[in-house]
Amino acid sequence: MTTIALIGPGAVGGTIAAWLAQNPALSVTVCARTPFEGLEVQTPGGLITANPAVLTDPAKAGPVDWVLIATKTYDTASAQGWLDALVGPQTRLAVLRNGVEHVEPFLDRLPAERIAPAVVDIPAERNAPGRILQRRDGWIRVPDDATGRAFVALFAHTPIAVSTTPDFRTEAWKKLALNCAGAVNALLLKPAGLAHDESAAQVMRTLVAECVAVGRAEGADLPDDLPDTVIAGYRAGAPDGINSLHADRLAGRPMELDARNGVIVRRGAAHGIPTPANAMVVALIKAAAG
Ligand SMILES: NC(=O)c1ccc[n+]([C@@H]2O[C@H](COP(=O)([O-])OP(=O)(O)OC[C@H]3O[C@@H](n4cnc5c(N)ncnc54)[C@H](OP(=O)(O)O)[C@@H]3O)[C@@H](O)[C@H]2O)c1
Repeated sequence: MTTIALIGPGAVGGTIAAWLAQNPALSVTVCARTPFEGLEVQTPGGLITANPAVLTDPAKAGPVDWVLIATKTYDTASAQGWLDALVGPQTRLAVLRNGVEHVEPFLDRLPAERIAPAVVDIPAERNAPGRILQRRDGWIRVPDDATGRAFVALFAHTPIAVSTTPDFRTEAWKKLALNCAGAVNALLLKPAGLAHDESAAQVMRTLVAECVAVGRAEGADLPDDLPDTVIAGYRAGAPDGINSLHADRLAGRPMELDARNGVIVRRGAAHGIPTPANAMVVALIKAAAG
């Protein structure tokens, strides 16, 4: 029996935990901040339910084969108690989150070869604790190494397209390019259809162009037309879609601003690449959010 503990059973984490729990060969425990009874996920193929053990106290947890962390990036510090309890000498960690800094925050816990950074494209919303709407089957990509391949194997029974990629860095920066543009929605509090406004779209393209320049300096293989591709994607999607930065701002929660835009400024500065548009959007959202 493979033991799995999922920290952060929100939209992504709850969906993943419910799918993994469908396999009786996997023992899934959920490490939650807000307790709930059972998971119900409305998936594209119908409702799935699961009743994993739900822990809210790290003192009740012990080492497992796999830890999957799916908290927002700003909740990394608050999850440390779980990592203390769950990580043993053989434990592998999968980091399911946005951004390009999956591994670094955990290197004091376990070596890089036992960490699977994961780019997640599973659009999901949590309507209440344990109640989630998964809008597409979606996909997850991890590096093509032993830990990545072991992670992929956990999902063999699910319709989620989980695969390895030989160029994880490029995958992560491509997702960052998409996410950094969403800061304009969060700043103006306007949903995805804002990308049809050509002036707003031009600001988004500028954010993405800076991301491309910095990502290339970091070794990502990003195409010249990525800014236009990102805008085309926003325009093709639901006009009322609200990205998670925007949703967090609306709800008065912390925001993944540093993971989605601040990182472009920080890494740009390290390479001597100017990123004034991302710096401005970070400053304005911080000021607007108070
Ligand atoms: N949602 C999407 O469609 C989507 C798609 C792709 C990528 N992502 C990325 O995936 C990551 C997770 O996003 P999400 O949308 O799933 O976030 P979310 O719905 O806000 O879920 C985060 C979960 O983490 C829990 N949590 C926070 N601190 C905790 C702690 N110390 N111990 C245990 N649980 C803790 C929260 O608990 P509470 O119940 O108390 O709030 C919540 O259940 C983010 O990096 C996001 O950008 C999201």
